[in-house]
Amino acid sequence: MTQSSSRKPAILVVDDDATLNQLMSSHLRRAGYEVENASRWSEAQSLLGRLEPDLVLLDAKLPDADGLAMLPSLVETCPVIMLTAFGSIDLAVQAIKRGAVDFLAKPVNPDVLDLAVKRAISASSMRRRYDYYRRQATSALDKTLVGLSPAMARLRKMIGIVGPSDTTVLILGESGVGKELVAAAVHQASARADQNYVAIDCATLQQNLFESELFGHERGAFTGADRRKEGLIEVGEGGTAFLDEIGEMSGSLQAKLLRVLETGHYRRLGGTKDLVSNVRFVAATNRDLRAMCGKGEFREDLYYRLSAFVLHVPPLRERLEDIPLLAEHFLAARDFARHARKRWSPAALEALMDYAWPGNVRELRNIVERAALVSGESDEIRVAHLGDFQRRPPPGRQYAFSFDHPPTLDEITETYLARLLAERSRSRAEIAQTLGISERNLYRLINARRRDG
Ligand SMILES: Nc1ncnc2c1ncn2[C@@H]1O[C@H](COP(=O)(O)OP(=O)(O)OP(=O)(O)O)[C@@H](O)[C@H]1O
Ligand SMILES: [Mg+2]
Repeated sequence: MTQSSSRKPAILVVDDDATLNQLMSSHLRRAGYEVENASRWSEAQSLLGRLEPDLVLLDAKLPDADGLAMLPSLVETCPVIMLTAFGSIDLAVQAIKRGAVDFLAKPVNPDVLDLAVKRAISASSMRRRYDYYRRQATSALDKTLVGLSPAMARLRKMIGIVGPSDTTVLILGESGVGKELVAAAVHQASARADQNYVAIDCATLQQNLFESELFGHERGAFTGADRRKEGLIEVGEGGTAFLDEIGEMSGSLQAKLLRVLETGHYRRLGGTKDLVSNVRFVAATNRDLRAMCGKGEFREDLYYRLSAFVLHVPPLRERLEDIPLLAEHFLAARDFARHARKRWSPAALEALMDYAWPGNVRELRNIVERAALVSGESDEIRVAHLGDFQRRPPPGRQYAFSFDHPPTLDEITETYLARLLAERSRSRAEIAQTLGISERNLYRLINARRRDG
């Protein structure tokens, strides 16, 4: 079996004019593209789901949909060239306005088609690379690790030490402390800094997709795998792969990851040949992996591999002196686009420092952004603008409840739920995770509460 590293770009041609569709498709196939066709929008939709095309050629008028109306959502996922009837310049202009990269008047001239497709595809492959950075790349300001406290100074020093080596790094810390920023900083401090940095969230990806996401798959590896796909390990070749929320990884994947870490070898899904990885792994979690090992929820051997070098990111309550800097930083990041600068009143900053921040830097950021909004036209953010955020909850977040009678299970549920919902830093998804139930069931509980209360 030959392994070529570059796959053919895939194009989906959607046009109900069967002759034209055939002509364009066979022309594009000859030009070296992988081509699929659809004659209706419904058909196109199901193909889109599994094909992830690099480009769609879309007829403006389909039997079951208005191509123009479908554009805005379609261009979110891939570039689109609109096919319009000859002479309908108005339609073409509409298409471009709605995000099409180009338009072609029918009947399509093959040379014009070649050129338009080439241009659109090269833009598309650039965009794909950028997708991997999307989570990081909001703005330069957003990547800075702010903080001058001794705890942060120690952390920076450790990043400086471990960064340049190829050692696997495990980043531990509570939710919202900045683990993702630390991971990016490790990459920045390494000799791989100008290579790819790929981030993968082990918590949100579906298990079955995850394996192919990480290791890639061969054509035909499973239903719908109609072309080879590179995994993140391959995309991150020479660079860094960040495995976020590693505690959520399934047992079978843990085993496969362990193999990569130990031997550097891995296989694409459905592949028969070992590939060699040269990627540096950085992992993060807010869970207690050691305790998970004790309960058999995480492989001990993987834990030891990962924890070759551990970076602990301290909770915000242990570096309260960083709060004014962070508060300034978040305000500046927000005001950057507005060319206006707000100031903190000393009392407001003091109030911020007088709180234990169970949601850490993320919670602080949310409060800052809300306060900036609430303060409206005012140049200064004052205590009143902070709203009623809880000051000084019990340190270390205790969850003790007392009842003046032996409580029923429902009463305990209700009290605990109310408490979690009152912690504004938590999303519903996080609460569901804390409770160990699905989000659906959480909403059911919340609704039951509303009905009863
Ligand atoms: N030291 C810091 N300087 C500037 N921004 C920070 C810092 N620490 C965290 N942030 C910001 O706070 C937010 C939360 O950080 P991040 O997403 O890295 O948390 P996390 O540790 O990964 O949390 P979780 O475990 O919930 O995923 C982000 O918006 C991040 O940019
Ligand atoms: Mg995170």
